[in-house]
Formats: sequence, structure tokens, C-alpha cells
Amino acid sequence: MDYKRNIVITGGAGFIGSHVVRLFVNKYPEYRIINLDKLTYAGNLANLKDIEGRPNYKFVRMDICDFEAFHRLMQEERVDGIIHLAAESHVDRSIKDPFTFARTNVLGTLSLLQAAKLYWESLPEKYEGKRFYHISTDEVYGALAMTHPEGIEPPFSTKASSAHHEAYGEDFFLETTKYNPHSPYSASKASSDHFVRAFHDTYGLPTIVTNCSNNYGPYQFPEKLIPLFINNIRHRKPLPVYGKGENVRDWLYVEDHARAIDLIFHEGKVAETYNIGGFNEWKNIDIIKVVIRTVDRLIGRQEGEDMNLITYVTDRLGHDARYAIDSTKLQRELGWEPSLQFEEGIEKTVKWYLDNQEWMDNVTSGDYQKYYDAMYASLNKE
Ligand code: NAD
Ligand code: DAU
Repeated sequence: MDYKRNIVITGGAGFIGSHVVRLFVNKYPEYRIINLDKLTYAGNLANLKDIEGRPNYKFVRMDICDFEAFHRLMQEERVDGIIHLAAESHVDRSIKDPFTFARTNVLGTLSLLQAAKLYWESLPEKYEGKRFYHISTDEVYGALAMTHPEGIEPPFSTKASSAHHEAYGEDFFLETTKYNPHSPYSASKASSDHFVRAFHDTYGLPTIVTNCSNNYGPYQFPEKLIPLFINNIRHRKPLPVYGKGENVRDWLYVEDHARAIDLIFHEGKVAETYNIGGFNEWKNIDIIKVVIRTVDRLIGRQEGEDMNLITYVTDRLGHDARYAIDSTKLQRELGWEPSLQFEEGIEKTVKWYLDNQEWMDNVTSGDYQKYYDAMYASLNKE
């Protein structure tokens, strides 16, 4: 069968990628969706069990650094769209092993860009109707000051309206904010973003870049704050809070990110950058308390009884104080906004992890336990 489009989604077996693959496979039966993933520790085909075997879906195990193989795949599958999510994504791992981040995030992205350029330039219509959409992070912008000009303290949750962001724009990350990455992870993402834009500016490759804030929701690997803590609370293990727990992150429900990716892939303007965020800033310690209360309530413990698991540990090296995205441009130009209030999103998320203990047990068996035990052992209690 001839499909209307042939789209490669890289990193589709990971957390955000699996939501994007599911959305595209379900919403666009007229598209062929090729999920290209190396299946590192973070990739898991169990994340996509519900769409396995669908006629418009194909999984290909491949390393994005394998230029030859990817170039061949572009030709064989007549790929006209790439949504690039594959990456090493965990800041703590990047501090221990920066080389892997440079390899995958920088060289891997470059390899995809070069293969797309060669294949698309070989076609009579060249770049017409093509898209290279690169998914990046707000971490490339660096860190913001802890308080807002008018002194409001997080959590703002629903208080942070788009008008508020417009009034205090300089206190949020805008699309025009200068890059200032601090961790090896964000440095590698920044570098890959620069390569993507350079391929547009030099060769005319039809690229789009988006920078998103912290995602939460089902299928996130439990090395990241929210799923790690849900699992630890359930098993009454210590909750390692870095530093004083005062760092601020802006949380977005993962399905809202996937919806934004769909919209931008179809309607975003070539060469543009769009910020995607939740208008939902929280200090880590406040979000941790919400998670503890929610887990306790949902498993029938007394709400808050697990607060004693909170354990303050050595801070993350170079720990960015605050991230806060201004996504007014996306709202204004393409009409996107987050659909879920945080309270609703966190309830759904905690419930999903509690209901999917088998998924959690599978991903936390074997090597994971060794990684986590070594990680935790290296943290000094404060
Ligand atoms: P993840 O770690 O859950 O998944 C990454 C996926 O990429 C995995 O399936 C893994 O197997 C695959 N992968 C890794 N190296 C590969 C390689 N060399 N070749 C092919 N596949 C490879 O990551 P995530 O949290 O879903 O993030 C996805 C993307 O979104 C990343 O680019 C990340 O920088 C970006 N992002 C993440 C967040 C967040 O909060 N998680 C926020 C903003 C942007
Ligand atoms: O902002 C977008 C980024 O969000 C993405 O680009 C990254 O891929 C994603 O991992 C995430 O990065 P963070 O470093 O913000 O996420 P993480 O879940 O690792 O940590 C969230 C906050 O919680 C951060 O301030 C560090 C803190 N933390 C984290 C862990 C794992 C703790 O205090 N204790 C922990 O055990």
C-alpha cells in the first residue's frame, strides 16, 4: 500500500517518543510510522504493546550514529518526515559519562541530518514537502533566577498565565534567549540544535526545533524524579532530594507535549523555533510532597505518612536553579496550550505507575538495580 507520508520517529521506544508514536499511529492510518530506536537501557518496546502489529507501524532497531544504515532506510522507505527524539536524556548520567552524550546527541543528530540531506537532494522535488523536526530541551538556555520580579514564589501552577509571561518575559526562557548550557547533557543538546539550524541555513534543509520543559506521565524511566520517587515511596525506600530541594522545574504532561509535536510537525513554520512548556513551575520539594501524599492516598496509607522518607543528599554538580518556559509564541501562532491541570496530571501519573507495577518491575530488574544502588551509594546524606 502507498502511504500518504512515510515518517521516521527516532527514540520511539523511549518515554516521550512512545507517546508520539502512539498518537501518530492511531491518528493517521494514512501515514506509515517507522519507529527507529537502538533500544538502550531507556528504550522499551513494552511501552508500545498496544500498537504492535498495526499495519501502518514498523519498528527498526538501529543506532542513529549508523549513517550508512540510516541513509539506506531513507531510500528504501522513501522517508519524507523525521521527528527526532532519540537521545541520551538523563543529566546525572551525562555528568558521569559525557562521551556517550556527545556521541549520540551530537554525532547521531549530525548523521541523521546528513543522510536526510543526501537523500532529499537526490529527489526531483528535493526538499518540497519534507520535514526534519528536532526535539530539544529548555536546559539549553541555562538557568533562571529563583524568584520572579514581583516576588511570587513557586508553585505558581495555574497562576502563571500567558499574560503573566508576557509581562515578565525576561524572567522566562523565550525562543530568543541566548544558549547557555551547563551540564554535559544540555551542552550536547545545544550542540545538536546548532547543527540542525546550520543545516537549514547552509543547505536549506527544512528544519524545525522545539525546546520543551520537564515532562511527566506514564512510561518514564524510573531514574527521573517523579517515577523514581513513586516507586521508592511504594517500597518505602529513601527519597534522595538533591541539595535543599529548592530547584524549580516547569512540568508538562507528556501527552500535551506529544500533541504539540503533532501540531508543529504539520503546521509549524520551517526554520522556526517554538518553546513548549506547562506554565507550571514547582520547587522540587513541593512536588515531592504532592507525590508522597498522592501515593499514600492511592495505596491506602495515611496521607503524608511517608514524608519521613525524604532524605537530603549532596547536590547534583552544576545543578540549574530554575527552568521556566514561555510558550506564548506557540499559543499565539498555532493555538496550542496545555490541556491538563497539574493536579489532574499527577493523579493520573501516580495511578498509572501503581497500576503498572509489572512494567516497573521489568524495567527496574537487572542492570538498573546495579546502576541505582551505585548512584545512591555515591550520594552523601546532608
Ligand atoms: P528517553 O531517555 O526516555 O528515551 C530516549 C530513547 O532514545 C530511548 O528509546 C533510547 O533507546 C533511544 N536512543 C538512545 N540512544 C540512541 C541511539 N544512539 N540510536 C537510536 N536510539 C537511541 O528520553 P525522553 O525523556 O523520552 O526524551 C526524548 C527526547 O526529548 C530527547 O531528545 C530529550 O532530550 C528531549 N526532551 C526530554 C524532556 C523530558 O522531560 N524527558 C524534556 C524536553 C526534551
Ligand atoms: O527540562 C527538560 C529536561 O528535564 C529534559 O531535557 C531531560 O531529558 C529530563 O531528564 C529533565 O531533566 P531534569 O534534570 O530536570 O530531570 P530529573 O527528573 O532528573 O530531575 C528533576 C529535578 O529533581 C532536578 O532538579 C533534580 C532533582 N532530583 C532528581 C533526581 C533523579 C532530585 O532531587 N533527586 C533525584 O533523585
